[in-house]
Amino acid sequence: MEELIAKAIDAREKAYTPYSHFKVGVCLKAKNGETFQGCNIENSSYPATNCAERTAIFKAVSEGITDFSCIVIVGGRENEKPDFCPPCGVCRQVMMEFCDPERFRIVLGKGDLSFREYTLKELLPLGFSGDGVERKE
Ligand code: THU
Repeated sequence: MEELIAKAIDAREKAYTPYSHFKVGVCLKAKNGETFQGCNIENSSYPATNCAERTAIFKAVSEGITDFSCIVIVGGRENEKPDFCPPCGVCRQVMMEFCDPERFRIVLGKGDLSFREYTLKELLPLGFSGDGVERKE
């Protein structure tokens, strides 16, 4: 876990946040052991901003990796020590697309060794899984 937290802190350094000055870094661990770092990337058209969590998930999926075991998240205002930063609702839903809500772990770090750990199901109870969405011809 220490190593994953260090990678999330490292990823946070790359956050592009000229508007909010709130920097988030993550390290996503795939079941095959690979890790993917991500940061938030803001845009002058605010809704075009991408959260750190989705940056990492989309990086992985675009490389053909879709099975994940956990994500470590650290976030906080620029020039301040990160604090617990729970993922936004949109990112929770993106996790729901690829991860088993009872097994996928969301780890909130503080930039030191302390962390809190939740399952996706705890942070997104009754999440929409897409069951029945596919159109059957
Ligand atoms: N942000 C993330 O990167 N992840 C979250 O789960 C919460 C919010 C970013 C988006 C925006 O760049 C900044 O934090 C402030 O909302």
